[in-house]
Amino acid sequence: MCGIVGYIGPRNAAQVILDGLRRLEYRGYDSAGIAVIQDGHIAIRRDVGKLGNLSARLAESPVEGNIGIGHTRWATHGKPSERNAHPHADTTGRLVVVQNGIVENFRELRAELEAEGIEFKSDTDTEVIAHLVGLSYQGGRSLEEAVRLALRQLRGPSALVVLAHAEPDKLIAARLGNAGGVAVGFGEGEMFIASDMPAILEYTRRMVFLENGQMAVVTAAGATFSTLAGQPLQPEIHDIPWDPVSAAKGAYKHFMQKEIYEQANSLTDTIRGRVDLGSGEVYLEQVTLTPEQAQALTQMVSVACGTSYHSELVGQFMFEQLARLPVRVEYASEFRYRDPVIDDKTLLLAITQSGETVDTLAGMEEGRTKGSHLVAIVNVIGSQAARVSDSVIYMHTGPEIGVASTKAFTASVVDQYLLAVHLGTLRGTLPAARRRALLDDLARLPALVGRLLDPAGHKVYTELAHAFFHFTDFLYLGRGINYPIALEGALKLKEISYIHAEGYAAGEMKHGPIALIDEHMPVVAIAPQDRVYDKMISQIEQVKARGGIVIAVANEGDDFIATKADHVLWIPQASELLTPVLAVIPLQLLAYHIAVRRGADVDQPRNLAKSVTVE
Ligand code: AGP
Repeated sequence: MCGIVGYIGPRNAAQVILDGLRRLEYRGYDSAGIAVIQDGHIAIRRDVGKLGNLSARLAESPVEGNIGIGHTRWATHGKPSERNAHPHADTTGRLVVVQNGIVENFRELRAELEAEGIEFKSDTDTEVIAHLVGLSYQGGRSLEEAVRLALRQLRGPSALVVLAHAEPDKLIAARLGNAGGVAVGFGEGEMFIASDMPAILEYTRRMVFLENGQMAVVTAAGATFSTLAGQPLQPEIHDIPWDPVSAAKGAYKHFMQKEIYEQANSLTDTIRGRVDLGSGEVYLEQVTLTPEQAQALTQMVSVACGTSYHSELVGQFMFEQLARLPVRVEYASEFRYRDPVIDDKTLLLAITQSGETVDTLAGMEEGRTKGSHLVAIVNVIGSQAARVSDSVIYMHTGPEIGVASTKAFTASVVDQYLLAVHLGTLRGTLPAARRRALLDDLARLPALVGRLLDPAGHKVYTELAHAFFHFTDFLYLGRGINYPIALEGALKLKEISYIHAEGYAAGEMKHGPIALIDEHMPVVAIAPQDRVYDKMISQIEQVKARGGIVIAVANEGDDFIATKADHVLWIPQASELLTPVLAVIPLQLLAYHIAVRRGADVDQPRNLAKSVTVE
């Protein structure tokens, strides 16, 4: 997840940009850079490591100017290095770009550009954009047209800002797909651009947020907006609320709501730069397992709590299918007291959003003392779980403020998918063709999630909330890889609405829980068209036969289930391994709207904390 800041106006651009990048610190990064037009040329300063290194470099070699762009990069493609830090320039060095997102087809584009004699100075996908814009610009097109032409050649989400030496009075900002945001801030005789509001809130509260396929030409006097096709736009200028907390929520009522809707972006960020669709390679720089170690593994044990535990139950299917590793999933709070049978041939996986959950840390300690290889999937950068692990995969979702975990859950499921493909590669259980197919499925996921999160289709949730908010008990049923989603859906409902909800393996219904069914016990059934679909249909019929009410989560186009269930929440088709990421989203939204309808404190539910750091 990268941070972007741009400025034009009477102030010292480098200072405004540096301050803005500091406010994006939570996004995590390991290199940063600034470009400013100074005395008629573009001056660039970049450095690896903390922002303090860039700040020190600027102190020893200052840049003076009134227009500039800056960037913090979380290195995912190639090592963190000064040469890979943004901004990136075209061959003339008179045009620079900063970007957030993925250029999925950058290898092909790079090959084409190299064939035209372009020499690349970095390993990044972003540099491709600098050359594409530069070539069109040198060819006589306007800067706006050059950016439009370049963006039309890109595949994958991108948010970017372009600065050209020959036009020292303008910045071009553009957004393509579900890349991180682009906010254009309106000052008095000065303008700001940022990937996230906190970077510029101290200067302005008046902002326009670019949407997918939109561009802004920004001068000190203001900004003009258009589509990438050149259609002029007159977007609304939002007045951001003064207090920082509600400002951070933006247009959303709760952090949980914001974080649910961020999932197309957060999944893009957790995948970005970690996959090569051409070769089927997965890049997990901080997973240190060697092929020999991976091949010597005899088992995997996953430990976590709450939502993170549910994520690991999904991951079990991935590791067993793709890496052919036997997997045990354990509540960390139980595992730590069992004197478990693990050793140096055990891979111990800990998933923890906060990285500070005391039971999970204790489970990890169990593994460490018995010589297991510890791998942690963590969101909070530099947290304890990250520090004590041998290998780390950061979720890159940005801060998750709502106590009920949403975007961290879906990111951790996807991160396990990446790890499973990586382990399969190391253990020789995944041929290249299968890897490429798996990564193609993954590359399509953020767009499917983005479609599912289109608010236009969300009236159903307020209607269901109105119909069901007064019920006191719910049963959630799932089977196979979606049984953990039943558990997760039930947890979401109970922890924010205080309604008793139980997740259950659908096949277990006839062994007891079916005695509960009547018109007072709504049943949520997760029934995508997978290998256990028919079993789920008969489960739904058994519930209906006893007067139960069924809310089904089902695949778009499945007309049959609409004849069986009382209500249907539709999800797009996806591979069986990735369907849980889609199936959980309707359950997050259902829990959210029921809790809102009950007037519950959604972001800080009673008795709960975001991270359970005490026993
Ligand atoms: C989930 O919505 C809850 N907030 C809770 O179950 C949480 O997942 C659990 O406490 C684990 O937290 P962690 O991922 O930070 O370790």
